[in-house]
Amino acid sequence: MLMSDLISLESEILAQISAASDEATIEAVRVSALGKKGQISERMGALGKMAPDERKAVGAALNVLKDKVSEALVQRKAVVAEAALEIRLATEKIDMTLPTRPQSVGTIHPVSQVWEEVVQIFGDLGFSVAEGPHIEDDFHNFDALNMPPDHPARQEHDTFYFNEKSDGTRMVLRTHTSPVQIRTMLSQKPPIRIIAPGRTFRSDSDMTHTPMFNQVEALVIDEVTHLGNLKWILQEFCKAFFEVDDVKMRFRASHFPFTEPSMEVDIQYAREGGQLKIGTGDKWLEILGSGMVHPNVIKAGGLDPEKYQGFAFGMGLDRLAMLKYGIPDLRAFFESDLRWLRHYGFRALQVPTLAGGLS
Ligand code: PHE
Repeated sequence: MLMSDLISLESEILAQISAASDEATIEAVRVSALGKKGQISERMGALGKMAPDERKAVGAALNVLKDKVSEALVQRKAVVAEAALEIRLATEKIDMTLPTRPQSVGTIHPVSQVWEEVVQIFGDLGFSVAEGPHIEDDFHNFDALNMPPDHPARQEHDTFYFNEKSDGTRMVLRTHTSPVQIRTMLSQKPPIRIIAPGRTFRSDSDMTHTPMFNQVEALVIDEVTHLGNLKWILQEFCKAFFEVDDVKMRFRASHFPFTEPSMEVDIQYAREGGQLKIGTGDKWLEILGSGMVHPNVIKAGGLDPEKYQGFAFGMGLDRLAMLKYGIPDLRAFFESDLRWLRHYGFRALQVPTLAGGLS
């Protein structure tokens, strides 16, 4: 093999590289030079048949050539990539002043809308908004709510548990917004008037249950509030929320460990051709649990139950949205189906206010 052969091979390959104007061509040149059966590789393979002196000289020259070609390939690649980027930057300009396409306008989810409506109504009634974490400890989710570890009501909550910690305790995904009652009593002085809207979690799924759902908790604590106040607040809320003069409500005696006495409240509705109609009909949908806060809970909240009393309730926000906006299946709320969102969603500027109308 002649050295002059290598020199002409070098100029041939380097010329091909500088002529390549896209990544695919560069790659083709690389394969034909350095690939397994490439021009350089083949010559490397032939070294074995040469005399030792010649092998040494040609081998060294081939290695130099290989490095030169590799380097040239890298450089050419960078140049080509840069040029391609320049072209994209020049052609893919976005004109931010153009109006958006109608099909790409987002909507407000019915649950967000209802959440905002509820905050508006209770804000008008003198309540402020409180919050708590989604991941709760046993104390706030159960113990302090008068549900000690062996309490049968714990089983009804279908709780999602986290792995045991080194001290043997397990955190939970909060099964209701009631732990915010405890957090509020421990951090605020009466009179207390809060609502706490937020996500809650239970291992349950059918037409009216999803593993993640939204509740709004309410807590009123002072020295005089009684069950009659609770009933009035609920009636006022339902009238304002459903934007009607009268809503048929059913108050059923019930039991919760954290309230005494307790009642559940159902709202009347009808199912007409796959749609829900609220206010009249032959069916009842349970929307909330409520009652007078149990003395043990007031005590766990650091307050004196001889002095303080009040009521609490927990309401299903998603169920309120189903009833108000006639949405038959709760599971669809969380499927992120764009057609569903376009149908049931709200325009972004349709902010609910008591003055401007809720829906
Ligand atoms: N936490 C109860 C539940 O999720 C609802 C409730 C709240 C009942 C407050 C009474 C008082 O079912």
